[in-house]
Amino acid sequence: SEKWVLMVTAQTPTNIAVIKYWGKRDEDLILPINDSISVTLDPEHLCTTTTVAVSPSFDQDRMWLNGKEFSLSGGRYQRCLKEIRSRASGFEDEKKGVKITEKDWENLHVHISSYNNFPTAAGLASSAAGFACLVFSLAKLMNVKEDHGRLSAIARQGSGSACRSLYGGFAKWIMGKNDDGSDSMAVQLADEKHWDDLVIVIAVVSSRQKETSSTSGMRESVETSKLIHHRAKEVVPKRIVEMEEAIKNRDFESFAHLSCADSNQFHAVCMDTCPPIFYMNDTSHRIISCVEKWNRSEASPQVAYTFDAGPNAVLIARNRKAAALLLQRLLFHFPPRSDADLKSYVIGDKSILQ
Ligand code: PMV
Repeated sequence: SEKWVLMVTAQTPTNIAVIKYWGKRDEDLILPINDSISVTLDPEHLCTTTTVAVSPSFDQDRMWLNGKEFSLSGGRYQRCLKEIRSRASGFEDEKKGVKITEKDWENLHVHISSYNNFPTAAGLASSAAGFACLVFSLAKLMNVKEDHGRLSAIARQGSGSACRSLYGGFAKWIMGKNDDGSDSMAVQLADEKHWDDLVIVIAVVSSRQKETSSTSGMRESVETSKLIHHRAKEVVPKRIVEMEEAIKNRDFESFAHLSCADSNQFHAVCMDTCPPIFYMNDTSHRIISCVEKWNRSEASPQVAYTFDAGPNAVLIARNRKAAALLLQRLLFHFPPRSDADLKSYVIGDKSILQ
């Protein structure tokens, strides 16, 4: 008899860590061995748009990604769905004749449709935006009354880095102390207006999928690298304090030194893993040299670089002028050719190219 459908659409950008998360102390709950800090991209670039719908006529939970259905049976999806469902509250819309009680949610099914506005195959972080958007839209649909911190702890169980995408600007994922993960969540350090001089340029070095997933890479590092444990205990805690200070003061020099050093140490940990993991390639290394050389020729750094679990460079320019000069340099040293490794640039601000 009831023929209604309720829908919610949300959009979430991806985030890029400037102090990296690498290594879990609990794989099921996704609890990290150190805090991390990230910058969230503008919503018009690298973001996920997710629509979730509920109707009494749906007979199972289903999900589509970029128009193609895929199985929701993965533990991480199930966990996020379960956590949100258990917090659902009743909802009533008299005009539409919709009445859902808290108990009804246990038997109602959802359909989820998610789109990335960037090629999923480009090897660019997509799980962060994806799980953050999924959790946020489901929470809205099911009338969950939790703050962003609590929601971030749920998104964390989908993909660790997703917990930081619930906020714009700068976010910190606090590793937490509890074994049940209840205090492992993200907080906002500064909103998107705080430091809006920064321009982020992503140099797509290769669109191939990475060979070692972050999940297995982290596991291998935790099991075989001594450096990762030294990093988590002795290096990151101090860097977190310094990075928070740099962000607060919009101190680009410290921000750049810390971001570059932390990216390099993360990749050193990968090299220290047995067998070693290579995420960067020759082009990535050449981009690092190019940026280092330029920064050293100036009175203070113009651009920071950071690389995640892949060869693509995330370049953070101190302002629009530096970003324009950066693009000139990239185009000069790495002219895009259809058969070349470096294919294209995703630009934080399109008008920079004009
Ligand atoms: O959340 P995951 O499993 O995709 O891991 C992300 C790991 C890095 O991107 C390399 C670092 C980070 O903090 O985002």
